[in-house]
Amino acid sequence: MVLRDKTVAIIGVGNMGLALMRGIIDSGAVPPERIVIHNKRKERTEALAQEYGVRAAESNAACVQGADIVLIAVKPQIFTKVLGEIRGALGDAVVLSVAAGITCARIEAELGGVPRVVRAMPNTPATIKEGATAVCGGAHATELDVEMAQAILQEISEVVVVVDEIHMDAVTGLSGSGPAYIMLIIEAFADAGVKVGLSREIAQALAVQTIRGSARLLQVTNEHPGRLKDQVTSPGGTAIAGLHTLEEGGLRTTIINAVEAATRRAKELGES
Ligand SMILES: NC(=O)c1ccc[n+]([C@@H]2O[C@H](COP(=O)([O-])OP(=O)(O)OC[C@H]3O[C@@H](n4cnc5c(N)ncnc54)[C@H](OP(=O)(O)O)[C@@H]3O)[C@@H](O)[C@H]2O)c1
Repeated sequence: MVLRDKTVAIIGVGNMGLALMRGIIDSGAVPPERIVIHNKRKERTEALAQEYGVRAAESNAACVQGADIVLIAVKPQIFTKVLGEIRGALGDAVVLSVAAGITCARIEAELGGVPRVVRAMPNTPATIKEGATAVCGGAHATELDVEMAQAILQEISEVVVVVDEIHMDAVTGLSGSGPAYIMLIIEAFADAGVKVGLSREIAQALAVQTIRGSARLLQVTNEHPGRLKDQVTSPGGTAIAGLHTLEEGGLRTTIINAVEAATRRAKELGES
């Protein structure tokens, strides 16, 4: 248990910060009394502290004092301001950032010295403990620092480690933006169901469970997706007729282009 005896500071307990806090409390990885939080609004910090039994800090600087891990889950626009506030109080804590598009190098430069930084890119299903997250360590992070970050994030998501930070743009294009693509696909399936005579309610329920069940089947069997596709595809049957139409419409190429475009955009935003 890499988190044993560690004190965790959380700056920004909004959607993502709260999901992470709940995750580590629910799993027992970190007891509430070793979690310290700070938000912009004092009343929110105090209400959350009361509800979850965690400690409320008066400021961002007070929040990080004595912490082993500092999780920062504020919006990217105010990230620099928050780093400025904690710079002098950080000690040798590991900084774990979930902010989209903010590089380890940028965080290191803002903090000065040789800070241990780990960057993570979760996605929205993490808020219901079904996320997909990639992490990468900065220039001064140790293997144990990355392990600690993984231990926190795995309570709300599947976690993969990417060694080269450049790949975080690709992660943003694929799993970070992915929920938007899947929602569009589900909506399209529901429209399709309506077109062939089903009620929207039934069509959407079938679409959601088909996507969920197919993903689980792939996970449980660990088969190649092509093999599982072949199992549904009988000679002259319905699935091959549908697949032919999808191939004709360029589904595979369209998805590859979408992830490539989003990756490019993530890179542009990171540079701006
Ligand atoms: N939501 C997602 O699914 C998701 C996915 C991937 C990455 N992320 C990343 O996670 C980060 C947080 O996103 P979110 O969706 O959780 O945002 P959010 O719900 O708006 O939460 C932001 C939190 O930051 C707090 N905050 C604002 N200013 C602060 C300050 N000066 N000092 C301390 N706390 C402050 C807010 O407190 P108040 O409520 O008191 O204003 C709020 O609790 C972002 O950087 C985002 O890129 C989120």
